[in-house]
Amino acid sequence: MSSEPATTDLPEPIEVPEPIAELVRSASTVGVLTGAGMSAESGVPTFRDAQTGLWARYDPMTLATPEAFAEQPDLVWAWYAWRLRLMQEVAPNAGHLALARWGRRVPVGIATQNVDDLHERAGSIDVAHLHGTLFDLRCFDCGRPYHGTVEIPTEQVERLEPPHCQVCFGPVRPGIVWFGEMLPAEAFERAQALAVGVDLLLVVGTSGLVQPAAGIPLLAKTSGVPTIELNPDETPFSDHADQVWRTTAAVGLPAMAALLDDDDRD
Ligand code: OAD
Repeated sequence: MSSEPATTDLPEPIEVPEPIAELVRSASTVGVLTGAGMSAESGVPTFRDAQTGLWARYDPMTLATPEAFAEQPDLVWAWYAWRLRLMQEVAPNAGHLALARWGRRVPVGIATQNVDDLHERAGSIDVAHLHGTLFDLRCFDCGRPYHGTVEIPTEQVERLEPPHCQVCFGPVRPGIVWFGEMLPAEAFERAQALAVGVDLLLVVGTSGLVQPAAGIPLLAKTSGVPTIELNPDETPFSDHADQVWRTTAAVGLPAMAALLDDDDRD
C-alpha cells in the first residue's frame, strides 16, 4: 500500500513567519534534531504527552532498561513487538516528506532521537539514530546482530518470548538505547558535527529533557549556528532558540521547504 501522499495532494502550505523564512532561504546546509513529536502526526505516540504519552501509560524502568530486560525479557520484548507492529501500520507524514524534499535541494543532515524508520521511508538519506532503532536486533548476551525470524502478534500482548540468538541462544533485544546505556558514538558525533557545522539547525518535536541529545541545540547556539524550534509547546530550549514557531512538524516543515520552491519561481 503506497501511503506516501503525492506532493500535489498536500494542503497549501501556511505562511512562514518572515524571520524564519529568511533563515530558511539563506541556509545552504541544514541540520535537524528530531524527537517523538516529528512522528506524532503519523500516529506514533510521543513519550511525555500527559494523556497519550508512552511514559504516561507505561513505566520506563520496567520496559526500557537492560536490568528490566534481564529480569523479564518476555514482558519487555512484548512491548517492543507491539511498537514494531505499529511501525508496519504508520507512514511518514508531510513533515518527514518535506525534510526529504528539502534534502534534495540542499544538504540536510538529520539526527533523530526516534527509533522508527519514518525519515528513511520518506526518502531522507542522511539520518543518524541517537537512540538506536527498533529494527537493529541483537543478542543480549553475545551482542551478535540477529537476522532470524521475528514473530509479531497482530494484537498487543503482555508477554512474548523474544527470539533467541542463533549462536549462543541468548535472548534477542531491540537495538534501542535503554536508560543507563551509552548512545552510539558515531551517531552522537554526527549530531555534534551538525550542530557546529551547518548554516541552520532545526529543533523539531522534542521536549529537550533527555541528555545528551538535549545538549545538541545548545551546542549549536554556542557555536553561533542559528536555531529554529518547531513545537506546539514550550520547552527548556525555547528561550535559547533564535526563532520559535508554535506549530507542528507536518504543518511547519512543508511550509518551510516550499520556500525553496518559491525561490525557483522568482
Ligand atoms: P517527548 O515525548 O518527551 O516530547 C515530544 C515533544 O514533541 C513535546 O515537546 C511535544 O510538545 C512535541 N510535539 C507533540 N506533537 C508534535 C507535533 N505534531 N509536531 C511537533 N512537535 C510535537 O519526546 P522526545 O523529546 O523525543 O528515549 O523524548 C526524548 C527521549 O525520551 C526519547 O527518544 C526516548 C524517551 O525516553 C529513549 O527511549 C532512550
